[in-house]
Amino acid sequence: MNAHPGSEAKKYSILVVDDEEEILRGLCEALDDEYEVFSAASGEVGLEVLEREDIALVIADQVLPGMTGVEFLEKVIERKPTAIRMMLTGYADVASIVRAVNEGRIYRYIQKPWDPEELRLNVRRALESYGLASENVQLTAALAEANERLRQENLYLRREVERRYSFGNIIGGSPSMARVFDVMEKVAATSATLLITGETGTGKDLVARAIHYASPRKDARFVAQNCGALPDTLLESELFGHRRGAFTGAHQDKKGLFELAHGGTIFLDEIGETNPGMQVRLLRVLQDGEVRPLGASDTRKVDVRVIAATNRDLRKMVEEGDFREDLFYRLRVVELPLPPLRERREDIPTLAEHFLERAAERMGSGLRGFTHSAMNRLTAYPWPGNVRELENEIERVVALSGDASAVTADMLSESLRAVSRPSDASFPVEAPFEEWDLGRATDELKRRMIARALEEEGNKSRAAERLGIPRQSLQKMMKRLGM
Ligand SMILES: Nc1ncnc2c1ncn2[C@@H]1O[C@H](COP(=O)(O)OP(=O)(O)OP(=O)(O)O)[C@@H](O)[C@H]1O
Ligand SMILES: [Mg+2]
Repeated sequence: MNAHPGSEAKKYSILVVDDEEEILRGLCEALDDEYEVFSAASGEVGLEVLEREDIALVIADQVLPGMTGVEFLEKVIERKPTAIRMMLTGYADVASIVRAVNEGRIYRYIQKPWDPEELRLNVRRALESYGLASENVQLTAALAEANERLRQENLYLRREVERRYSFGNIIGGSPSMARVFDVMEKVAATSATLLITGETGTGKDLVARAIHYASPRKDARFVAQNCGALPDTLLESELFGHRRGAFTGAHQDKKGLFELAHGGTIFLDEIGETNPGMQVRLLRVLQDGEVRPLGASDTRKVDVRVIAATNRDLRKMVEEGDFREDLFYRLRVVELPLPPLRERREDIPTLAEHFLERAAERMGSGLRGFTHSAMNRLTAYPWPGNVRELENEIERVVALSGDASAVTADMLSESLRAVSRPSDASFPVEAPFEEWDLGRATDELKRRMIARALEEEGNKSRAAERLGIPRQSLQKMMKRLGM
């Protein structure tokens, strides 16, 4: 027979302590079919056995030579607190037994003479709870270990996220991006409400996250909600939460994002898509720092930094009565406009290289760098979808590149290959001049314009035409400029 269900290998060990030979023998007979039984004639010997063996349960007589049964069990508690303790008692010394039971020193007492069947039943029950308790200890340890692993993993992921959204991962060496970084750095240290504007794909999302992870709020949550993506009631319940029964389908209370972001940042994307009712509610949060869940009668205080974003012209919407003026001013405590990519073409090569490197590594491609003509197309294209479009273009190229070693113009999409000149009226020379000598600066300007015209027009006649000078003048000028 097994010592206990579920374990074939191990029998529980029981220690019985009594100075009467006959009683020891009786206990052994009653128990040694099911358990490994050790016996001792005194508390002192009992303690030695306890040291040596893995004892699950101890039965001791109350009256022993030397130390008493209670003293012996006290020592058992010190040495092996998990062992279950039972006491044999010959005459009803009720008072001391009751105290021992109440103080938790013993699990149960057995009165002499005992019924072997009842004794076995009591021992079996006691050991069942012993088994559960030790399983509990093991599970608790395993859980603690799993928790610690999760905590480490969490820490690692948090660092990854922080790294991913660090300022360093936002690319831009152009003067207009330098202004963006400048504002970002300043506002990151504060909790000021911020409105990020810019065309689609200019990096509004990226910038919002970077600000959060550079701010003192970085250890609390960053939550984002696209205000254009949900019907009114759902958006309201997402942002402010709801009480059970507030509307059909609200089966239980739910916390809103404002509450979840307490101490952190909420990013309200496409703020221009909100309806008038939602605008009023947002105004209230910004003014009072309080939210009221749908269907609730009370409000809650929240400490949340608000970053809003839009690709629409909010000022114009205000003028046309489509956006509340008071909310507009509450949101744009600081306004951060992100320049479209075509207005900072000098960032295109760095961005393109960055996306190429990343995509090539991810897809295990050997693509490195761009040919001149490919890069020329990339910098000439107007990028209506801005950085996102550039990123997608590069990913597409890498995915379809086969075993090419550099990106060539014919690998680019149709729309890029079709570009022969910048489709906007931007001036062909963006890089700022370091030069203060007007003569030398003008020469440099001429050099750049001629180079650009030649590259885009393909031959000198058409380049001269584009520059508005005779062909001979162009030739002379090029010679003088050492081109
Ligand atoms: N300066 C940058 N450096 C590196 N990557 C950038 C930069 N700007 C944008 N990106 C990348 O371009 C993609 C689009 O950026 P993001 O989603 O932040 O744009 P958005 O302004 O929020 O666009 P939308 O208005 O369409 O939501 C993202 O993958 C982002 O990582
Ligand atoms: Mg976005």
